[in-house]
Amino acid sequence: MVKAVKPAPKAKAIKQIAIYGKGGIGKSTTTSNISAALADLGHKVMQFGCDPKADSTNTLRDGAYIPTILELLKEKGKVDAREAIYEGYRGVYCVEAGGPSPGVGCAGRGIITAVQLLKQQKIFEELDLDYVIYDVLGDVVCGGFAVPIREGIAQHVFTVTSSDFMAIYAANNLFKGIQKYSNSGGALLGGVIANSVSSGYQKAIVDDFVARTKTQVLQYVPRSITVTQSELAGKTTIEAAPNSEQAKVYRELAKRIEAHEKSTAPSPLEAQDLRAWATAWSDQILAVERGEVRSAGAQI
Ligand SMILES: Nc1ncnc2c1ncn2[C@@H]1O[C@H](COP(=O)(O)OP(=O)(O)OP(=O)(O)O)[C@@H](O)[C@H]1O
Ligand SMILES: [Mg+2]
Repeated sequence: MVKAVKPAPKAKAIKQIAIYGKGGIGKSTTTSNISAALADLGHKVMQFGCDPKADSTNTLRDGAYIPTILELLKEKGKVDAREAIYEGYRGVYCVEAGGPSPGVGCAGRGIITAVQLLKQQKIFEELDLDYVIYDVLGDVVCGGFAVPIREGIAQHVFTVTSSDFMAIYAANNLFKGIQKYSNSGGALLGGVIANSVSSGYQKAIVDDFVARTKTQVLQYVPRSITVTQSELAGKTTIEAAPNSEQAKVYRELAKRIEAHEKSTAPSPLEAQDLRAWATAWSDQILAVERGEVRSAGAQI
């Protein structure tokens, strides 16, 4: 829990970023490493977990879980937002929105309630934040999870995907959500973070998808045992293995997010075009395996 401090004399522009992606794809891991790396660069960062599981921020806090805003509201009725903010690695402010009991209510409403609480109490200004990073569950199949995009809560959206079809399918759905709200002040797309992308053909699949949907890859993050080891120690890779190759990858990613200014509306593929695209890649990989063509990275 953080103490009240005097508001900063003049509010500065806060960069608000939302990280989306298919379940289990690596959103919280990537987000926490970005937060840690931005904090190392001297920025004031808040990581805002928007997942009812409330497990976004624990590697910033030695594996410890924190009470969620919705839990506190349920318990007390009225909450000083500072009670829900906990400091983690290098002073990163950790918040978990929480969610309704499983099977009851809308998690999207929980996100709005939690963000409104912090905004009403002018917490972002008081903490003089440079970045708020929302770690959001889901691929916008439920309108609730579109809240950070739709309500103008975030300015830039990044999506974490691998080269697996279902992860790309989720990213494409997210692009549809962004495109839908792009003319009414919704958040725009900054790009794709390619996670667990190690081989040439995995890279080629993601590269082709971003080219077709008119976006970009911000960073390729390999699958790494260092991430597993760090997570088991309850830490981000930035904290547990600062000199590792993987930490270097996350630091470069954070620098690219720092430098990123202009997000755009993506061009999602229609369902039948996405299917045809996937089939073409399937044929391509098969042809490579049979030795009929040399590289899966070739044009299709
Ligand atoms: N680059 C990587 N290398 C190795 N392991 C990884 C990598 N990225 C993520 N993981 C592992 O994958 C698992 C899922 O990651 P994470 O919890 O970040 O996913 P998520 O998208 O936030 O999931 P959820 O949708 O459940 O919130 C974790 O155990 C994490 O350590
Ligand atoms: Mg997560």
